[in-house]
Amino acid sequence: MALIRIPGLVDPHVHLRDPGATHKEDFITGTQAALAGGFTTLLDMPNNPGDSIVSPGALSRKITAAEGRLMCDVGFFYGASPDNLDTYSEVTRDVFGLKMYLDHTTGDLNIEDLATIRRIMLTWPLSKPLCVHAEGRTLAMVLGLLPSVGRGVHFCHVSQQVEIELIRDAKERGLPVTCEVSPHHLYLTEDDLPRLEGFGVMKPPLGRGYDVDALWASLDVVDMIATDHAPHTLVEKKGQHPPFGVPGLETSVPLMLTAVHRGRLSLDRLVEMMHAAPHRVFHTEVQPETYVEIDDTRHWNIASDNLYTKCGWTPFEGMPVVGAVTCVTLRGETVVQDGRVLPLPTAGCFTRPVA
Ligand code: NCD
Ligand code: ZN
Repeated sequence: MALIRIPGLVDPHVHLRDPGATHKEDFITGTQAALAGGFTTLLDMPNNPGDSIVSPGALSRKITAAEGRLMCDVGFFYGASPDNLDTYSEVTRDVFGLKMYLDHTTGDLNIEDLATIRRIMLTWPLSKPLCVHAEGRTLAMVLGLLPSVGRGVHFCHVSQQVEIELIRDAKERGLPVTCEVSPHHLYLTEDDLPRLEGFGVMKPPLGRGYDVDALWASLDVVDMIATDHAPHTLVEKKGQHPPFGVPGLETSVPLMLTAVHRGRLSLDRLVEMMHAAPHRVFHTEVQPETYVEIDDTRHWNIASDNLYTKCGWTPFEGMPVVGAVTCVTLRGETVVQDGRVLPLPTAGCFTRPVA
């Protein structure tokens, strides 16, 4: 057994479903899953069902709902909508960035009008991250707008070969772009769909083998790993019209440690992508005396039985992995021991960006 200490990891993209869909996940179960998975800071997306975070009121309701119910630190994003641009100044201090949805997914935040998209890009403060859900042609459109609007963007969950190639070109030309990739797009392809059925349905959809190969071959262009933890219930995923999204908080570190074990990236690069880069890009708070202990030699199979996420399933069921989170210390307090979350009073806080 080789125990290695790494910093508390930061996941810049989760959907904790609280408030609005707490039958799928809530702040308590979602942040327990985060700790078990090695994350001590989460940035939560604004597509809360029924009360999307597109107004200062909705944001303050979410902040209130989180009070006293966080096991790790959680911060929020604001949602872009055609008619909330005049509210930006009221929320910028409290959120880590603006999320703009340019393709259809869970929620009702999709924006299609080009003039609106351009206006949002011009209005959101330059100093604050603008995260974009953009697949294929919409990603190319955003890149095309960048010189005109004079700002940078962060591309969420890049999944296709052409997207990562476009991002590489943009970076080489000096455009201020960053991007994230999710482990499900590194480990699964559309060939897994017949087996996974609804459990393989997510946005962006699973790619072809060549997309997955291109993502692995382009890890040098990938700034960070994001779980895009998007839980839905077993019943929903087994139904006729499964909603988009898969959980990822408890499987992402083991999957990325497995890649380290196979020599696909170094542990230093893993820590850069899962701690340093999201911390730097989103200005998350430094957490003193916070670290994760991993056993990088443990061979085990991912199983849904011992997950903390309320949804209780994983698209990686049965997958052999090498590497596990054994202990987590948050601000000097042991919160995970022997891989299990300790039944403690809430150790996490609502967090805001520093500066
Ligand atoms: C996310 C969700 O369910 O909230 N679903 C998904 O498939 N990733 C939304 C999103 O990030 O697109
Ligand atoms: Zn998402």
